[in-house]
Amino acid sequence: MNYKEIEQAVSDIDITLPPPEKEPERQYYFISKLREWMNQKKKEKGRSLTCCVNTFGCQMNARDSEKILGILNMIGYEENESEDADLVIFNTCTVRENANLKVYGRLGQLKKYKKKNPEMVTMLCGCMMQEKEVVEKIKKSYRNVDIIFGTHNIFKFAELLAMKVLDRADSKKMIIDVWEDTTEIVEELPIERKYRFKSGVNIMFGCNNFCSYCIVPYVRGRERSREPEDIIAEIKCLVADGVVEVMLLGQNVNSYGKNLKNPISFTELLRRVEAIEGLERIRFMTSHPKDLSDELIAYMGESKKLCKQMHLPLQSGSDRLLKIMNRHYTKEDYLLLVDKIRKAVPDIAITTDIIVGFPGETEEDFAETLDVVEKVQYDSAFTFIYSKRTGTPAASMEEQIPEEVVKERFDKLLKRIQDIASDKAKKDVGKTVDVLVEEKNEQDENFVTGRTSQNYVVHFPGDESLIGKIVPVKLCESKGFYYMGEMVNA
Ligand code: 5AD
Ligand code: SF4
Repeated sequence: MNYKEIEQAVSDIDITLPPPEKEPERQYYFISKLREWMNQKKKEKGRSLTCCVNTFGCQMNARDSEKILGILNMIGYEENESEDADLVIFNTCTVRENANLKVYGRLGQLKKYKKKNPEMVTMLCGCMMQEKEVVEKIKKSYRNVDIIFGTHNIFKFAELLAMKVLDRADSKKMIIDVWEDTTEIVEELPIERKYRFKSGVNIMFGCNNFCSYCIVPYVRGRERSREPEDIIAEIKCLVADGVVEVMLLGQNVNSYGKNLKNPISFTELLRRVEAIEGLERIRFMTSHPKDLSDELIAYMGESKKLCKQMHLPLQSGSDRLLKIMNRHYTKEDYLLLVDKIRKAVPDIAITTDIIVGFPGETEEDFAETLDVVEKVQYDSAFTFIYSKRTGTPAASMEEQIPEEVVKERFDKLLKRIQDIASDKAKKDVGKTVDVLVEEKNEQDENFVTGRTSQNYVVHFPGDESLIGKIVPVKLCESKGFYYMGEMVNA
């Protein structure tokens, strides 16, 4: 169903009856009730209530925030950039410690807004909330928080908000609803996209890999795939609504479909997505090197719609560390995979994630990582300083690496990655490539900004009418991480 059809379903719900048991009708019921409440508030205040959704972390969280905004929009909230809003939500990330610290800092700042506006509602959700210690700390030290929910029950957002604002008896209590895991996937809820012409699409949730440093499997639960029919229906709806590019999202898209009643491979799913008329570009992330199949590589060579971009997290180049990290591939396996991918798609951009300072990392281990970086010549890479996550096997490993050693390695790696990326980008200067125009340039309103198939950013002279279109652009100058270009008449 598209947004309009869901809106109709919400309007058709009879709110004089008790709430239905079945989802998503149950949520339609609460959205409908909250709409009525919003109309009263509008009369009282002479304006709509405002909301501000702050997102931390990855593409999964960004997509979850679009789901929350979809529901808020349907209730009648108006979006506000500032946290001085009637409803403030932090959709949190906990993959590294500093993501947690940022949230506590921001929560402290909210206190002043709540003093000014006692009716303000504060909500916390996302990965951090799946950790018991975090919820305990918030209960103790951040009494200004009204509602806490987790990664598994975002679909219940309207119901939780209704408990807070409609049920007076509960109005002072902190509402906490965090589930440990779920197999439930609720379809047909409204989603508010950030971009009109491109969208993320969840194809699966959770992760079964348990890399020894990573908290994701503990906070996002076991891997579960959406039914291909639901994914295709969603993408068809998006395309009918103007979307030309989709990013298929999962922690490990290469194992998509394994747990379905009628299992299908990720490549088969891609074939079905590619067949959707009107859809022009397909991206996906993230791929785990251990599960990337020859079938997929061959398909990447044939496909007309798959973008020439592959995010392939390395984490470390040392076989010894890869084993302790529980990654199930060696440096050699990884390099072989890169070779195969480049053979199939010669001009593909390969990007990666690398962790520096994993417990016990020696100079030799680090040298192996640098060696892979030299050999692969990444187009870009996210580099992370290892962060100890309580509950993961790596957190209790001896030989945590001193900060100064890690910092030195990190700086060295980052410099090398940047130099390689910037040299590589120079090679494409002079080429004309297709660019999907995404927005007006922030600095100069006579320019627009878009992305190439390889996911490089290009700025070039143009106006708003180009937004959402794919146009040929000559890459005139490389600025390291982006290009300055010129549109070419097709
Ligand atoms: N410390 C540092 N980086 C981490 N990542 C995951 N867990 C940790 C951790 N504990 C990185 C990995 C992953 C990316 C999303 O975050 O590189 O691919
Ligand atoms: Fe974390 Fe590994 Fe799963 Fe990626 S594959 S989310 S790094 S456990």
